[in-house]
Amino acid sequence: MARRFKLRPLPGEQASDSESPKLIDRREFMRHSFNTAAGVITMASLGVVGFASLLMGQADSDGGDSSVRFWVPTGTEDSAWYGDRHLEAMTYQSFVDEAAQSSTGMAGASGVWSGLPVNVIYVPHSENALSPPVEGSPRFQFADGYNESGAYVGSGFEIDEDPQYEALSIHDNMIIIFSRCPHLCCIPGWQLVTNDFTSDQWVPGGSDSGGNKLFCICHSSRFDPTVIEKNMNRNRNNGEDFRFIGIKRTGGPAPVGMPLIPFVVNGDIIEALDDFKDWYTYCD
Ligand code: FES
Repeated sequence: MARRFKLRPLPGEQASDSESPKLIDRREFMRHSFNTAAGVITMASLGVVGFASLLMGQADSDGGDSSVRFWVPTGTEDSAWYGDRHLEAMTYQSFVDEAAQSSTGMAGASGVWSGLPVNVIYVPHSENALSPPVEGSPRFQFADGYNESGAYVGSGFEIDEDPQYEALSIHDNMIIIFSRCPHLCCIPGWQLVTNDFTSDQWVPGGSDSGGNKLFCICHSSRFDPTVIEKNMNRNRNNGEDFRFIGIKRTGGPAPVGMPLIPFVVNGDIIEALDDFKDWYTYCD
């Protein structure tokens, strides 16, 4: 567990106890979730489990309140590989098993952690990182981050170089992404719609080509979950800019990418950590 990797830079590139996050409530989650059948922002049901139990956690065997749980958007019960696991605690092995069905060896799922929307993405990094980056062999890559004005902000390499980001070091072939779109706060998903951006393909370099992007159905923003950068965003609640480590935006109206959430694999249960909770407050 928790093996850590040195990452390869993108081709052509050089190598607090602040406020608690504003947990979105059930109404907000529904408002910002989307229904793939209708293609619009819509409702998603919590089923028989109340929202309080999401915040409080359930049995210890499920990982308690730090566990990340599957979230099955309405209309994807039959198409998502986790369609029958709504609100079950995510297991690491389930991603390994699903990745074995993929031509790229990747797997992803929508989830919820402490009331916050997330995407969990498995990438066969350890298998591919020692070979030259080629199409169809995904691995994580570090990139330089530029804000919406084009100014350099920082590098994904700071995960390894700056002790304050140590909890985010890449491990277990997996990342967790806080998933509120920096455009207008919808919730991007993993392969919940079918198009060129979401097909099971991968190309190196963090461009907008290739597939396996996180896709925001509201206005078609795209994010490459294999490219990790440092960037900055503005908190809609307090107007303050903040810097974060996250994945790269590759296209669409979103100004920047979305932040990472540190995690551990506890037994087989995926548990998130709240080290950077101030990064998850930028939406209303
Ligand atoms: S809210 Fe995501 S693209 Fe507009």
